[in-house]
Amino acid sequence: MRTRPLKVALLGCGVVGSEVARIMTTDAADLAARIGAPVELAGIAVRRAGRPRPGVPEHLITTDAEALVNRGDIDVVIEVVGGIEPSKGLILSAFGQGASVVSANKALLAKDGAELHQAAAEAGVDLYYEAAVAGAIPLIRPLRESLAGDRVNRVLGIVNGTTNFILDKMDTTGAGYSEALEEATALGYAEADPTADVEGFDAAAKAAILAGIAFHTKVTAADVYREGLTEVTAADIASAKQMGCVVKLLAICERAADGESVTARVHPAMIPLSHPLASVREAYNAVFVEAEAAGRLMFYGPGAGGAPTASAVLGDLVAVCRNKLNGSTGPGDSVYTRLPAKPMDEVVTRYHVSLDVDDRAGVLAQVASVFAEHGVSIDTVRQQGRDGDASLVVVTHRATDAALSATVEKIRALDSVRDVASIMRVEGE
Ligand code: HSE
Repeated sequence: MRTRPLKVALLGCGVVGSEVARIMTTDAADLAARIGAPVELAGIAVRRAGRPRPGVPEHLITTDAEALVNRGDIDVVIEVVGGIEPSKGLILSAFGQGASVVSANKALLAKDGAELHQAAAEAGVDLYYEAAVAGAIPLIRPLRESLAGDRVNRVLGIVNGTTNFILDKMDTTGAGYSEALEEATALGYAEADPTADVEGFDAAAKAAILAGIAFHTKVTAADVYREGLTEVTAADIASAKQMGCVVKLLAICERAADGESVTARVHPAMIPLSHPLASVREAYNAVFVEAEAAGRLMFYGPGAGGAPTASAVLGDLVAVCRNKLNGSTGPGDSVYTRLPAKPMDEVVTRYHVSLDVDDRAGVLAQVASVFAEHGVSIDTVRQQGRDGDASLVVVTHRATDAALSATVEKIRALDSVRDVASIMRVEGE
C-alpha cells in the first residue's frame, strides 16, 4: 500500500460534512485498505468558524475555502455546501488544480452539470455525485455503470423524503396539508422554509439529473415540469383511497415511445396500492427503473440525513481515490443521444378529475360530451348525490396534458358545474 496519503479538502461541515469528517477519522484504516493508500483530511472549509462541531478536528477548520482548494496539494475536494455559488467556482478551481470532486449538490448538477462534466474531462479528473440524488441509495452509479449496456425507458421515483412524509401522514391520519407540514417541521423533516421541498424544486433537480443519466442526454432543472403538493387536499387523498390508490409526489422521467424525445416532470399523482412505490412510507425514498433488458428494478432507502448521505459521499471518495491511484478516471458525462425535452402539453397519462355539479338530468351527459369532444376517453365515473348537488369523479384513459387542460377549461365554464374540485394525474400502471 502506498504510504503517502491522498489529501482531501472538505467544503462544508453541516449535517453531512460533519458525518463525512467523523467517518473519515474513525474508519481511516478501512478506507486506506480499500483504496490502497491513506486518505488525509487536509482542511475543512466552513462559513463560520468557532461553532461547536463535536468530533471534528478543530485545527482543520478554515473559513477560506478558495485558499484550501488552491493550496496545491489537494487530490480530492468534497463539496457538501450546496447552492450554485460559491460551490461552482470552488469546483472549477479544484479541477484547475487537478483535483477530483465529490459533490452532493443537486441544484448545481441539475443546472450546470454539462459544463462541470466538460471541465472535469478537460482537466482529466473525476466528478462524482452519488449523494446528490436520494441520499444513501445507490442510483447514479447503477444507472451510469451497471445499466450502461441496457436501454432505460422510464424512471419513476419518490425522491423527496419531506414530501413523502407529509403525504404519508395525510394518508394515514386524514390530516390536511398544513397539519401534516407542521408535524414534518416539528420532527425536523421539513426546513423552516420548506419551499424547495413542498414546491417540488428539490425533486425537479433530482429528476433532471436522473433523466440526463438514464437517457444519455442533457436535461436541466429548467426542462422539468414541476408542481408541488401544496394544493393536495384531504379530499384528494380520500378519493385516491376509494380508487385503491395512494397519492405520492413523483419524479417521472420517460423516453418517448418513438425514442425521439424525453420528458421529465414532478407532480403529485395517484398510484395504485399494488405498485411497489405505494408502499414507500414516511421519509423514505425509492426509485423504480424500467429498462428494456433488465425489466423493472427498484432502489429503496433513506434519501436524506447526515449519515446516509455521508455513506454515498464516502463511496464516491473511495472510487475517485482508486481512480487517482490508477492514473485513470471513471465514466464521465454521456450525452450522445441529444434527445430534446418534450413540453408537458404533449405528455400522455391518465387523469382523475373531481367536480361539484348540479344533481339534475343531463348533467352527466353534458360533462361526458366535453370529454368526448376533446378526444379524452373516460375510464370510470363515480357520482355521489348530496341535496341538490353531486360530487362527480371522472377517471380517464390516457390522454395528452393539452387535451385534458382544454377539457377542464370547457367543463369549468358549464353552468351545471359549480367547481372543479381537483385534477390529479394517475400513474404507475
Ligand atoms: N430535503 C430533501 C428531502 C433531502 O426531503 O428529501 C435532500 O435532498
